Amino acid sequence: MAPRVRTVLAVAGAALLVKRALRRRIQASPLWPMPALEEPISGRPRTRGLRLTVAARETVADGVVQLRLEGRELPRWEAGAHLDLVLPSGLVRQYSLCGDPGDASSYTVAVRLVEDGRGGSREVHEELREGMEVEVRGPRNRFPLVSGAPAYVFVAGGIGITPILPMLRALPEGAAWRLLYCGRSRASMPFLEEVEKFGPDRVSVVEGRAELGGLLGELAEGTAVYCCGPEGLARAVEELVPGVRLERFGAVGSAGSAFEVELRRSGRVLTVGADSSVLAAVRAELPDTLYSCEQGFCGTCRQRVLEGEVDHRDELLTDQERGDSMLICVSRARGGRLVLDM
Ligand code: FES
Repeated sequence: MAPRVRTVLAVAGAALLVKRALRRRIQASPLWPMPALEEPISGRPRTRGLRLTVAARETVADGVVQLRLEGRELPRWEAGAHLDLVLPSGLVRQYSLCGDPGDASSYTVAVRLVEDGRGGSREVHEELREGMEVEVRGPRNRFPLVSGAPAYVFVAGGIGITPILPMLRALPEGAAWRLLYCGRSRASMPFLEEVEKFGPDRVSVVEGRAELGGLLGELAEGTAVYCCGPEGLARAVEELVPGVRLERFGAVGSAGSAFEVELRRSGRVLTVGADSSVLAAVRAELPDTLYSCEQGFCGTCRQRVLEGEVDHRDELLTDQERGDSMLICVSRARGGRLVLDM
């Protein structure tokens, strides 16, 4: 073969390899279809996303849509697990799986529209239609059902019933359990009919504010207590049962005392309000700051900390990573002030 032809073939081969490597790198991005330009920030392997089809979409309560996402030979999951949904805009949101864990061809999630939320639920309600493809990652389970407890007590607030429903179905026959299911109104509570079929001996449904003392006041030794619902409900249950297993949703626990953050490279000093987050304060000054889930799951908002002690509230960083960085969507200063490398 002529040297010139050999050179052309070698260059073409190298270009192909580079193109494939780039494609793999981009598709591994936590923000796909946006490219990832750095190594995985958590240092943990990423779960490869699956592209599923929205096979069915149904309103199951006021302001709640249920989606059935179809695929083939889907990864298994157990009661309490959630799925990351990568929305068409690139936002990543977590939703509890509420279907049948034995169904390897579809996942089911239910999503409440949060009017003044951060945009994820609105996008699900307004953009996702039957027949569309959507990327999912996971499932992952941070809220597993323990086996063999002498008794179980569940407290669900509104859409918080979603991870709990598969738990009720998974409990062995004869298990001792009670559920308190509360919500704004019956019409706003998804899966009410199915839940009430378990019978009034086990299920109490409350419209409005629930009185928790009766159910949680005197628990038998070893009772496993689970709660999923809005922050106010989760806090109230936690006060009565410090060992409760909680699945929170919304901007998890990002509130606290006000403090200052210095952005050293930009030369700015910001005040983070008691009810606000570092991310919100930073984005007011630097609107291009990257973020995605706003719940301490994805790692997109990770920033290097130069000075100050951090109150880490995320679910993602390792102890080593926490040594010099923080997820600014949920974590805060542990008193005093923080200096970030931004
Ligand atoms: S935006 Fe996802 S961890 Fe902060």
